[in-house]
Amino acid sequence: MLEDSTAEQALHERVVRRQGDWERESHGLVDPPLPSDMLQPWEIWDQDLFNLEMIRVFARSWVWLGDTEDLAKPGDFITGKVGTQPVIVIRQEDGSVKGFLNNCRHRAAGLAFEPAGSCKALACPYHAWTYAIDGKLLSIPDMERMYGPDFPMEEYGLVPIRVKVAFDKLVFVCLSRKTPTFEEWIAPLLPRYEQYKIHTFKRYHRELDEIHPINWKTFVENSNDDYHVRFVHRRLNKVRKQMDTIVRFEGRTTSGYKPHSANFDMSAGRTDLDEQDLKGSYAEFIYPNLTPLPYASQLIMVRVDPIAPDSSRLFSRIYGLTDDLELQNRELDGLAQTNKEDTDMVTQLMGNLRSPFYRVGPPSAWEGRAQHMMKLIRADVATPLDPDEFDGPVDKD
Ligand code: FES
Ligand SMILES: [Fe+2]
Repeated sequence: MLEDSTAEQALHERVVRRQGDWERESHGLVDPPLPSDMLQPWEIWDQDLFNLEMIRVFARSWVWLGDTEDLAKPGDFITGKVGTQPVIVIRQEDGSVKGFLNNCRHRAAGLAFEPAGSCKALACPYHAWTYAIDGKLLSIPDMERMYGPDFPMEEYGLVPIRVKVAFDKLVFVCLSRKTPTFEEWIAPLLPRYEQYKIHTFKRYHRELDEIHPINWKTFVENSNDDYHVRFVHRRLNKVRKQMDTIVRFEGRTTSGYKPHSANFDMSAGRTDLDEQDLKGSYAEFIYPNLTPLPYASQLIMVRVDPIAPDSSRLFSRIYGLTDDLELQNRELDGLAQTNKEDTDMVTQLMGNLRSPFYRVGPPSAWEGRAQHMMKLIRADVATPLDPDEFDGPVDKD
C-alpha cells in the first residue's frame, strides 16, 4: 500500500492512518455540523506526528534564536534549538556570523551549553574533539592511535546552517538550503518592520523562560486567535479604542491589528511611522513558532519551542527604548501575566483534548489567522523534504 520510498514518508502514512482510525473509532458522540480546520485531539498527542513536525515544519523554517547584543566580538556565541535540533551561532574573526548544529561530529554531545557566551574554540566535553569558531575540526586527542593516519579531519567540521541577522539585530537560523530567504519568508511584514528601527531597541534586563505542559501547536493556535483576547485578557480592554480587529494572513506571517484608545499612547513621540502604526498595535506571527508584537517604542518577542507532544518552552524577550529597570520590570510582569493567561487556558484545553471523542468547532471571523497556520503546518507535514533540501551553500543570505 505504501508507495513511498523514504522512512519519513512511511511515518507520515502511519500518522495519517492512525488519525483516521482514531477518528472513526471515536466518532459519533460529538457531532460536528460544520467542518473545522482547527486543532483536533489526535494532532496533539501523537509522538510520530511530533517527530515529523521536527523534520517537515522546523527544518524548513526560519527560527528566531536571539540577537546581536550577545555577539559583540569574535568567539561570542548564542545557542538555541530549531525544533529539537540544538544549534549555535558564533561571531567570526572577520565580523560575520556563522551558524552550526550544536553537536560534536563524534557523538551527539553539545559543544556550548550556556544560552550565550564567549569562546576561543569549542572543545567537546566528551572526548575532547576541538573545533575552531569557524567550525573546522582542529584536533582529536590521540588521533593516530584512535583513527590511524588517514582520518579525514576536513570532513568532520561542524555542520553549517543558514543565519540571517535581521534589522541589524535579530538572529534567525534555518536548516534547509531550499527555504526562501528570510526577507521572502516575512515579506508581508517586512516593509513595516524596516520602519521600526529595531536596531535602536535594547534588550530588557531579563527574559521570561518557562516550560508548560502544552503541545507547541496549541500555543500557535492561541497566538493567532484574535477572538479570545477581550475575554482572556480582559484587563487590556481599556486600552482598546473599539473591540475591532483587522485580521490579515498571507504566506508565513499573520497579523491582528487593534486600534488603541485615545489616552493610550505607545508612539514614544515618533512621527516617522504610519498613522495607523502609531495609533494601534499589532499581534503578529511568523511561522512556525514566533509571536512578535511590534510598537513604535518596543518589540515583544514570544517564541514557543517544542520539547515533546505535551511539553513546550515559552521564551519571551522585550526590546525597547527605556533603561529604567522599574519600567522594564512592570512591562515584563505585564507580559508574564498575559503569557500566563494564555498558557493557563491552553493547558486546560490540552487536558480536555486528551479525550479522543471531542471534535472542535469552526473558526470564527477572528480566528482566520489560526486556521491559516493550522493549514500551513498540515501542508508542510504532508510534504516530504526535497532530496536536496540540505545541499548548497549556507552563506547566500
Ligand atoms: S562526543 Fe565529542 S568528542 Fe566524543
Ligand atoms: Fe492571548
